[in-house]
Parts: sequence; structure tokens; C-alpha cells
Amino acid sequence: MGAVVVVGSLNIDSVVEVERHPQPGETLLGGDLVKHFGGKGANQAIAAARAGAKVGFIGRVGDDADGDAYLHRLAGYGIDTTHIARSAGIATGHAAIAVDARGENTIIVSPGANGRVTVGDLAPLASLAPGDVLLASLEVSLDVVAEAARIAAARGARVILNLAPYASLPADVLDLADPVVVNEHENSLLEAEGPSPRSVLVTLGSRGSRWGSHEVPAGAVTAVVDTTGAGDCFCGTLAAALAAGFSDPDAMQAASTAAAASVSWVGAQP
Ligand code: RIB
Repeated sequence: MGAVVVVGSLNIDSVVEVERHPQPGETLLGGDLVKHFGGKGANQAIAAARAGAKVGFIGRVGDDADGDAYLHRLAGYGIDTTHIARSAGIATGHAAIAVDARGENTIIVSPGANGRVTVGDLAPLASLAPGDVLLASLEVSLDVVAEAARIAAARGARVILNLAPYASLPADVLDLADPVVVNEHENSLLEAEGPSPRSVLVTLGSRGSRWGSHEVPAGAVTAVVDTTGAGDCFCGTLAAALAAGFSDPDAMQAASTAAAASVSWVGAQP
């Protein structure tokens, strides 16, 4: 069974419930402010750990109380935090999130320490081996993600690139991934850029997911409370399942089931 190494972000999510999302120029009154742990990278790492993977994390938090709390939280899930660096004089990443009455969200991220992750932080990837999985998302520098993919592929590890939030990566980097994971919106942006990468998994919300010729229905959802982090839960579980040797469709199925369960809890992490 391989390990999963996540390269990505750690945020504190400040969440306000709203009846509906505001229009540009509009002010709305919402509910009480609630803080949760979030960030696509950390959400994915926790999903992978909950799915049974041995998980390491490369990223950065600030030299602040939020950073202390985050390291403690990840360690509680058994995630190796040795390679999460502290950046002095900058806050841990933060996200301002509005969740509407249907559980749909809008998110603005202030990267903070996530923006300080450097290629030099990737040295631990030298220990990757065939069977291991690198999972990266795009709330850290694109140069860092590209280099992480190159190192992991050169070590024979499997590369999963989650293009969220969407940004353009070089075609040769995208082709290292098996798969690139995108939602429908991200997929339309990816397709508009030109030839498709060799392996693309598209998540389709309540319609499930598609990866080449494999189509898997969405997991059963009892009540949609909050969709924040559902895509991250999908990616983290997928990485854990592939590292455990699941077939591609079985890994998709495991990821779909976990993502469906994730919309029943408040916030991006259980
Ligand atoms: O995908 C959900 C996540 O996006 C939130 O936890 C927020 O921090 C942003 O990274």
C-alpha cells in the first residue's frame, strides 16, 4: 500500500449562512460567523487519512495561533506534519465563505502563508516511490505544483492534479497526471484551452463522475447541509483508494460515496 503526499493549502474558513448570495454592489445580512478548518489541501489530506491512507503534507502555515491549531488538528488525524513549514510575519491562509439556503457556497481565499510555499519546500518528495500518490491542488504557487508533479512522476509515483481553483498549467505537466480532476466548470475552462490532457476525471455533482470510459453515479445523499469541500473529499478519497491499489472505477466509487457523505456536515471537514 502506497502513501499519499498532499501539496496544497491550509486555510481557516470564516463561514456565514445567507438566504442567497449577494449581487455585485449589494449588502446582505447573514447569520452568525462560524470558523472552521479548511483549505483544499488540508481538506483532501484529511479525507485521504479518513479513507485509511498514510498521509504526508507539504505546505505552510503562519507563525500564529491558527497555524498552531492546524498542526495539532492534522496530527490528530495521524497526518505527518513534519514538512508543514511556518512562515514568520504572515497569517495562516484564510477563506471567507457564504453558504446559501441550498447549501451552495461562494469562497474568497486570502492565501497568506500558502502563498509562501516554495519549490525548496518540495525536498521531501525525493522519498516518493512507485505505488505512492502525489495529490496537488492550486491554492499554492503553480510553479510549485508543476515541480511537485515533475518530481513525483520522475520517482515513479502516481500524480493527481486537482485544478481547483482553476488555473492554467503547462500541457506537459497536465500530461503527468493520472488523473487531472476537474468539476464541470473547471472542465469547460480546461477544454477551452486546447487539447485535453491524457487522463481527465470530471466530477458532475449529483450526476456522479466520469473518467474516460468509466462513469460512476453519485453516492446517496440524505440531506444537503453544506457542499463546501465535497470536491476535496472526493480527491482525497480517490488518492487514498488508488494508493491502496483499487482499480480506477472502484476508486471513483469510493470517492463518490465519501463526497456524498461530506455534504451532510457543516464546514469543509468532519
Ligand atoms: O474547497 C473548499 C475549500 O476552498 C475551503 O475549505 C476553503 O478554504 C477553500 O480552500
